[in-house]
Amino acid sequence: MILKEIDITEDINSLEEKYKLLIKQLKELLNPNDHELSNLSNLTSALKQMFNKISWVGFYLYDKEELYLGPFQGKVACTTIEIGKGVCGTAAVKKETIVVPDVNNFPGHIACDSDSKSEIVLPLIKKDGELFGVLDLDSCEYNSFNEMDKIYLEEICKFLVEEILI
Ligand code: SME
Repeated sequence: MILKEIDITEDINSLEEKYKLLIKQLKELLNPNDHELSNLSNLTSALKQMFNKISWVGFYLYDKEELYLGPFQGKVACTTIEIGKGVCGTAAVKKETIVVPDVNNFPGHIACDSDSKSEIVLPLIKKDGELFGVLDLDSCEYNSFNEMDKIYLEEICKFLVEEILI
């Protein structure tokens, strides 16, 4: 399946168009009958392919003790993160999306890539309320992730947890 790529320099309206197109494509691409690893891997690739602003995108999965690196696109990354540590560990313990306009201003930010300037981390919460993990997106630009990113990425995470990872 070939995903249609769109130029990032277009204005905000296009950001919404991109997300709507991406969600439509993910509903065709991801399949609950496929292996979990395959769906997570394709989701990271689809996100990276659609948005030039993303320098790193990946999952940190929860093994009931800590977060461990799952499928991702981008430079090599930290393999484990303690719950409550960094942006990922904080989003995991608070079970809330965290948008970081400037990583230098986030106390305890874990710099797997020194070029990373801004970030958004979304918790993946299963229907039983249990933490599955987090989805982490980085950018080499400041202020790359806004309220619209938050809304649509949360929609994608909800679709993933409730309709794919079942
Ligand atoms: N910056 C994250 C760690 C993961 S890297 O971004 C891939 C954090 O502070 O939790």
